[in-house]
Amino acid sequence: MAKVGTNLKKAILYLEMNEVVGIPTETVYGLAGNGLNDLAISKIFQVKNRPFFDPLILHTHSFAEIEKYTINVPAKAKLLVDAFIPGPLTLLLPKVSSIPDLVTAGLPNVAFRIPNHPLTLELLKQLPYPLAAPSANPFGYVSPTTAAHVNQQLGSKIPYILDGGSCDIGLESTIIGFDNEKVIVYRKGGISIEAIEEVVGKVIVQTHSDSNPAAPGMLKSHYAPNKKVVIYENSIQQDLKNTGAIVFDRAIEGIPIENQIFLSKSADLNEAARNIFGHLRLIENFNIDKIYVQLVPETGLGRAINDRIRRAAAE
Ligand code: TXA
Ligand code: MG
Repeated sequence: MAKVGTNLKKAILYLEMNEVVGIPTETVYGLAGNGLNDLAISKIFQVKNRPFFDPLILHTHSFAEIEKYTINVPAKAKLLVDAFIPGPLTLLLPKVSSIPDLVTAGLPNVAFRIPNHPLTLELLKQLPYPLAAPSANPFGYVSPTTAAHVNQQLGSKIPYILDGGSCDIGLESTIIGFDNEKVIVYRKGGISIEAIEEVVGKVIVQTHSDSNPAAPGMLKSHYAPNKKVVIYENSIQQDLKNTGAIVFDRAIEGIPIENQIFLSKSADLNEAARNIFGHLRLIENFNIDKIYVQLVPETGLGRAINDRIRRAAAE
């Protein structure tokens, strides 16, 4: 098991040795290493068992730092920075050559974000390089929202996890790219499309279900626990005795009530977002054969929650 604590000095010591450590963010926990060092970056891919064609997000503490590593930042990107950063927003921007190709999987753009978490912001301020950090889960599995989640799955492979409590948002960042005047959403996430459109006008949503060159990580089957996940439809007439469910605000008739967990009894989408990944982990351990998950209203953060539910249910 990894050591878990709040000691920034210790985290920095490991990072300086090109080790990877778990870090908290407001979205999900990250698996972080020196984003300018090939050895550290390779370790991230190894520990996650992640294919090298799936690029990594770089994390830093200020827009001035992002500007050091990118060129031709569009005016609309700056508007988004002013509105949402630090926060759950990732920008795809043309990179300078000092960013290793390993980070971007050879793509011309690099993904940057400034996480809104006090401990990690302090860590980033004390480092002379950005941190590459994918979500700290084995590739294809549910993202972690506590230090304990990270330790359960990756604890034997990493030396240290910075503990910053449970993640406030609970869903990964929204990923945005630019094509001249066009703003393109490649991953729905912690900032809703409605909020983004208030700042930059209409956006294009291009969250492909298959591997694609612009956001190769958006594979259809992702975020999957180890049991069969099925999206609940009202019409299901089967024997529901050995099943469980993750429901939004109301229980499903026919499924044993002790096998049901609520995303938000008060129908609050922010609370549902905080709970979805933890609930997928929890229900995996119930004595059931099948997990039903109910979609939530397709609005605001609900769109990103439903995206994760659909991917968890994808074959
Ligand atoms: O909230 C988050 O973004 C979390 C926390 C830890 O910051 N990180 C995260 O990283 O979700 P990861 O690796 O699990 O997902 C990153 C996504 C992948 O779908 C990847 O394909 C895409 O970002 N991505 C990264 N760099 C890219 C690039 N240069 N061009 C296109 N897509 C990129
Ligand atoms: Mg991930």
